[in-house]
Amino acid sequence: MTTERDTIHGEWAGRFTFFLAATGSAVGLGNLWKFPYVAGSSGGGSFLLVYLLCLFLIGLPLMMAEIMLGRMGRRSPVNALRRISQIHGHSRLWKWLGVVGMLIACLILSYYSVIGGWAYAYTVRAASGLFMGQTMDGVVSLFARFASDAEHLLAWHTLFMLTTVMVVSRGVKRGLEFAVTWMMPVLLVILVVLVIYAVRNADVYNAIAFLFHPDFHKITPDVVLTAMGHAFFTLSLGMGAIMVYGSYIGQRSSICGLSSAIIITDTMIAILAGLAIFPLVFSFQLEGIMIRSDPGLLFRIFPYVFGQMPAGILLGTLFFVLLSIAALTSAISLLEPAVAWLVESRGMTRPHASAWAGFCVWLLGLVSMLSFTGLNLRDMLTAVSAWLGHYSPMFEHKFYSQSFFTLIDFMTAKLLLPISGILIAIYTGWLLKSDVSKQELSMSNWSYQCWRGLIRYVTPVAIFVVLLNATGALAWIIRLINN
Ligand code: PHE
Repeated sequence: MTTERDTIHGEWAGRFTFFLAATGSAVGLGNLWKFPYVAGSSGGGSFLLVYLLCLFLIGLPLMMAEIMLGRMGRRSPVNALRRISQIHGHSRLWKWLGVVGMLIACLILSYYSVIGGWAYAYTVRAASGLFMGQTMDGVVSLFARFASDAEHLLAWHTLFMLTTVMVVSRGVKRGLEFAVTWMMPVLLVILVVLVIYAVRNADVYNAIAFLFHPDFHKITPDVVLTAMGHAFFTLSLGMGAIMVYGSYIGQRSSICGLSSAIIITDTMIAILAGLAIFPLVFSFQLEGIMIRSDPGLLFRIFPYVFGQMPAGILLGTLFFVLLSIAALTSAISLLEPAVAWLVESRGMTRPHASAWAGFCVWLLGLVSMLSFTGLNLRDMLTAVSAWLGHYSPMFEHKFYSQSFFTLIDFMTAKLLLPISGILIAIYTGWLLKSDVSKQELSMSNWSYQCWRGLIRYVTPVAIFVVLLNATGALAWIIRLINN
């Protein structure tokens, strides 16, 4: 018999499985590429301190809030929020927070899938020995040809989406749980093998100096804001991914303990990624190239690096398998909120719901994919207006030369995610009665008061400042004050 607090989707086998799944969501392309680079170029050890502070002051309270809401609602984020607000007498509009989260997840997945497809393609290329002995120009032009070849991109994007749909369609137990319990250990083993290789054979001293040497002069307000923004993205917060995973955990698990473990593991994996990547970058004197925040760099630099090593085929293949796994375990957490909602509210079976959600995201991904091949907003709008019968090019602003990918990335990671994070903090910190959250979190009085103080004041204000900064409003306000 199902009770009020049962979930119709099934429960994780135990706390550890939830930990693996949530860590799988958190550990993604962001950890493997962005963190090491940002840490190294923004003050090394001192950046790490600021980043850890952000993780624990902003990330931890928010992650606890999301898991708590998921576990209280026992439904997809939309229905969980609808149910909780009904029970506690809050406005029914709060369910829209779940809707926005679910849409952000689908938008992010649409381009994540394209990049995941690159990782699959590069795994096959590395295994086939294609990179062996290539020059730097050779691998750069290989990537340029690959990224502008719509047919290839389409095939790999489709394959990535198909694997994501396959995992999600099999349900919580046979799909998500099965996938993370073998993929996460494999990810860790590959990462450790790559770190050992890098430490033994490459320029580890310069890499460690780059990553950890504290330089407090580099801690500018901008660096602090970057650390906050990255803390938020790397933990997959604000889009229902962690909330939906939280709805499948048992009542007795400690939310604070689990969240801390996920955050510590995510950070350790990011640091290990730095130790695997940067010694190679320094050995091949490529540090000058690692200067832009563009995930494409992994695909431009590393084929060259592995192509020069004796065991390059094996190590290169392992490296791209690592990227593929990191992308896939994040992707399934992005599709799950929509699939859970379709099952609950539209009465679909899981395979049916996964196929529908996957298909919609796949379609959206096509536009991101074409934007990698050079299509910009102006081209797209001109095509649409030609289709509607207006042929005049009316898009003259420089905004229109942006790609669709840049637009989605800006809208989701920089705009909607922080807004949804602030709303989650306001809902759990200000609207939900303290006896409800206290009982749900079941912590000592002192730790509960700390959490409540952070989620009411620190988290929303900090995210708001990040939002102002990301949208350029902060610079505008500062200019206004200075004048
Ligand atoms: N946390 C992932 C990363 O670090 C990105 C992600 C965001 C994954 C949201 C899932 C959901 O790359």
